[in-house]
Amino acid sequence: MRRPIIAGNWKMNLDRSDSIELARGVVQGTHPAGVEIVMCPTFVYLDAVSGILEGSPVKLGGQDGYQEPNGAFTGAISMAMLADLGCEYVILGHSERRHCMGETNDLVNGKMKAALATGITPILCVGELLEERESGQTQAVVESQMDGSLADLSAEQVAQTVIAYEPVWAIGTGKTATPEQAQEVHADLRKLLAKRYNAQSSDTVRILYGGSVKPSNAAELLSQPDIDGALVGGASLQAESFLQIIAASTAEAAN
Ligand code: 13P
Repeated sequence: MRRPIIAGNWKMNLDRSDSIELARGVVQGTHPAGVEIVMCPTFVYLDAVSGILEGSPVKLGGQDGYQEPNGAFTGAISMAMLADLGCEYVILGHSERRHCMGETNDLVNGKMKAALATGITPILCVGELLEERESGQTQAVVESQMDGSLADLSAEQVAQTVIAYEPVWAIGTGKTATPEQAQEVHADLRKLLAKRYNAQSSDTVRILYGGSVKPSNAAELLSQPDIDGALVGGASLQAESFLQIIAASTAEAAN
């Protein structure tokens, strides 16, 4: 049984006091034992949020991390620095980094290796653009992103990763993939894991859905057999809606 993860990606939002207030709101909410909860603030407020999460089951994640351990890499943050601040997760290869910052599968692959070597669980994002979906390339695009980003990893390492399927056309647009559309891609990705690695990694890897997840659509998405949680953007910026999504995943786990 895969334990669901509900992760909040705050992106480049919230100032220091709003970050602290949101973290407090989530810490004070209900944390069902069967669900892993992760919050990913911006780098500069990780430390402040980390202090608030102390003693609570809510976990901390980074929104990115660099592949080198240290050195002359202006502006970069290493995985060891994230770990030092208490991060147990790191989002890698998010579509905004792929499309706004030009990240390639090779770069994401280097970051995956660095995260695993540091003991941080990477949440690898894959997802197709609208024109790629419309021209029937969804499967090819997500498979090549997954293959490229996981290159050279062993089946044991792959089993330690989390994958997030985030169709780019559904991010921040209010357009959600239907549960059936999402399930189809999740099932494809899981089949590919079994083919490339082994049954154990394919059974173990949690595949999250991301793209306009809200309290109103979370339960239906999370009820799909291959959807093991959600990576939430906009709706994670308010404690109430994030907690409602967490509650929706518990209701699902209890079924
Ligand atoms: P939204 O939930 O705002 O669509 O963002 C999804 C996302 O990109 C999470 O990483």
